[in-house]
Amino acid sequence: MARIVAVLPGDGIGPEVTAAALRVLERVNQQESLQLDFIEALIGGAAIDACGDPLPPATEELCHQSTAVLLGAVGGPKWSDPANKVRPEQGLLRLRRAMGLFCNLRPVRTHPALQHASPLKSDLLAGVDILVVRELTGGIYFGRKERHADYAIDECRYETQEIQRVVRAAAALAMQRERRLTSVDKSNVLETSRLWREVVNSVCAEEFPELEVEHLLVDAAAMHLLSRPASFDVLVTENMFGDILTDEASMLAGSLGLLPSASLGEQASSPGGGTVGLYEPIHGSAPDIAGQGIANPCGTILSAAMMLRHSLNADAGAKRIESAVYAALDKGARTADISTATPLDTNAMTEAILAEL
Ligand SMILES: NC(=O)c1ccc[n+]([C@@H]2O[C@H](COP(=O)([O-])OP(=O)(O)OC[C@H]3O[C@@H](n4cnc5c(N)ncnc54)[C@H](O)[C@@H]3O)[C@@H](O)[C@H]2O)c1
Repeated sequence: MARIVAVLPGDGIGPEVTAAALRVLERVNQQESLQLDFIEALIGGAAIDACGDPLPPATEELCHQSTAVLLGAVGGPKWSDPANKVRPEQGLLRLRRAMGLFCNLRPVRTHPALQHASPLKSDLLAGVDILVVRELTGGIYFGRKERHADYAIDECRYETQEIQRVVRAAAALAMQRERRLTSVDKSNVLETSRLWREVVNSVCAEEFPELEVEHLLVDAAAMHLLSRPASFDVLVTENMFGDILTDEASMLAGSLGLLPSASLGEQASSPGGGTVGLYEPIHGSAPDIAGQGIANPCGTILSAAMMLRHSLNADAGAKRIESAVYAALDKGARTADISTATPLDTNAMTEAILAEL
């Protein structure tokens, strides 16, 4: 039976990088006989322009019927006027909430061929393999917001069960890796962080006694990510800290354009029977390079690989894509964000990856 993959290109470079990932997915769909049907829909600024809503009901309905969702990026200066009540980013936040995607996986790996692309010294980068697990449907991004004449409020709220489920997911993943979990909070200042730390301690002590657990304050974590990146295994944190730390961590890999992500809900809850999931690069719509055809498609292509692994039970296809991306990089294929010499454009980079498939 065919399985539906919703494709939401969004804004800026979103359509450019999703088109690249779709070419790769279509190839692997044939090679592995995955029987995937790809259906496109609107989100973000493109959806506001078309119908005034950043998450139109038809898009939400399609995502609920799909086994997985592939997304580009949303947002841009066209819709950023502070007077605008409706913003593209609301579409993505609403979709994450509607699909129950509380667990955002952001793997950060260094690749030997790309060490020169990072601003860090190469001896610090060897062997970096961090899995950041970011809570995705709670915290300050989802709290009550108020704007008054001379003050504004963004409420940060976390419930015990919201922390428990993401910590459990992170701890279970750490058990399959090096059994080390770093929890990042700001418990010297924030009450939500004090609850966060208590929950991490109780979940790990009761359910994962073999795990080595470390706690870091977010300001120190930002520093340790640069001074000892290879020492981390799985890092779990709340929504906003995870958002910021992973952009920082992308510089270990060499560029924001390289990093994929998977946003997952509860197990076995998609129409296809797998883990419901939304897959997107960690970068935004990059308005500064949008429309030029020079965006790095690797983060989105690697997100497609995560989709095959986590939602479509197609690990062989996922490995095929990952090997093709790294083989192309090993042979010197580079987009402008990771190259000082003559770079490839998005299309040529995609061709180089397709050639490896
Ligand atoms: N998930 C999302 O859709 C998402 C995430 C972050 C930001 N945004 C939105 O994107 C818009 C732009 O935000 P920003 O400029 O702060 O962040 P950004 O991630 O779009 O860009 C930051 C920098 O990284 C570069 N970059 C990003 N992706 C790249 C790629 N694939 N290849 C080469 N270079 C790349 C950009 O050119 C830019 O210089 C904003 O409206 C923001 O709200 C959306």
